[in-house]
Amino acid sequence: MLVCHCRAVNDRRILDEIARGARDEFDVAAACGAGSECGGCVPAITRLLAACRDCPAAAASVTLDAVATHP
Ligand code: FES
Repeated sequence: MLVCHCRAVNDRRILDEIARGARDEFDVAAACGAGSECGGCVPAITRLLAACRDCPAAAASVTLDAVATHP
């Protein structure tokens, strides 16, 4: 699913960057550009980061749909 329309970055790319060590929205922006322009996607990036906080190495197995329904 496309998360960042400005930079055409999907959820898989962001989750891959989290698995590789991105720990906040600034790390994600530096790694792939998502969130570095209008900022409209930053809430979605923040949700992905929060969902992976306890186990970032497993981020590659997380889906945006799962994050959206996470309490
Ligand atoms: S939608 Fe991601 S920076 Fe604009």
